[in-house]
Amino acid sequence: MIEAMKYTKWITVLFCLLGLAACRQDAPRFRIGVAQCSDDSWRHKMNDEILREAMFYDGVSVEIRSAADDNRKQAEDVHYFIDKGVDLLIISANEAAPMTPIVEEAYQKGIPVILVDRKILSDKYTAYIGADNYEIGRAVGNYIASSLKGKGNVVELTGLGGSTPAMERHQGFMAAISNYPDIKLIDKADAAWEREPAEVEMDSMLRRNPKIDAVYAHNDRIAPGAYQAAKKVGREKEMVFVGIDALPGKGNGLEMVLDSVLDATFIYPTNGDKVMQLAMNILEKNYADPQFGVKDLTERLNISYTVIYKKFVSLTGLPPVRFIQLYRLQIAKKILESSTNNIIVSEIAYRVGFNDPKYFTRCFVKQYTQTPSSFFK
Ligand code: FRU
Repeated sequence: MIEAMKYTKWITVLFCLLGLAACRQDAPRFRIGVAQCSDDSWRHKMNDEILREAMFYDGVSVEIRSAADDNRKQAEDVHYFIDKGVDLLIISANEAAPMTPIVEEAYQKGIPVILVDRKILSDKYTAYIGADNYEIGRAVGNYIASSLKGKGNVVELTGLGGSTPAMERHQGFMAAISNYPDIKLIDKADAAWEREPAEVEMDSMLRRNPKIDAVYAHNDRIAPGAYQAAKKVGREKEMVFVGIDALPGKGNGLEMVLDSVLDATFIYPTNGDKVMQLAMNILEKNYADPQFGVKDLTERLNISYTVIYKKFVSLTGLPPVRFIQLYRLQIAKKILESSTNNIIVSEIAYRVGFNDPKYFTRCFVKQYTQTPSSFFK
């Protein structure tokens, strides 16, 4: 999938030149758009991690938009990022089916797309990063089966039915309890990842089911909603409550376990720092392809070599090959300036698309009359 995105960065650079768009020195090197599906403490933690990690990279701007669990709003957010011309899109798809065509559209326009935690129903994206929801569901199933000693009635309150973690957490759970013939899933309802619908749904489940031994809640906002409903009718001590997320901090999962509201919660990592690192790897790889040449640009853009050549010379005073080399050297200089000497120069040479570190150093010295290592901060 990365293949299709290979030259995106160069094409952006070229458009920048041809259209004389803002290519000033202080303009960000990379603009990243983050389309979050929801606005809650789990998302806030991930967003904070993304923003903090972004500070370790030079010239990166990150804009985060939240759809507040609304597919239509998320589609608008993605279109906003497409129109803005972001260099990379990070998205957690609120629901898989409705978001699939919109994510495909961004991808097909040449924007690298990272799916985070919630997937779409297509392989038109660049990378996925997230924990294994099927495995978490299985772990919860085994845990509940063992705490009920292999016998009992379970009800399940799921996340939003059209979101992939809800589907996978259910499938993993079913696979685990299929090994315990006396563990029965007697009821199931969609609680849309939130506390209020969980309380309403649990209230009806309690009316329908005189004997409930365990509640499997797909996250730690659903779990206290279910607990509250059971408490209202004085039945909370009859059953165990299990959630997912295990966030630290006031009112979150870990505290609820310590307060004996939940029996257990399972870790679902936010990993915003890893998301950002992946984004930067993809963006920097776009530049780094040593195979890249002007021929690729002419093919991708369907513009003749002569036209490209003339445009480059008239706008930059340089032939395209020389311009590409200069651009790579500039990126290398920026990386050097923002790094301490714990990375080696040859690694930077490869990162910006030089095959031969010695040749890189020669070109660098010629351009800046100083060695690359003298630019380390
Ligand atoms: C946060 C959240 C988490 C849940 C995850 C699933 O928005 O609802 O509580 O684990 O999304 O995608």
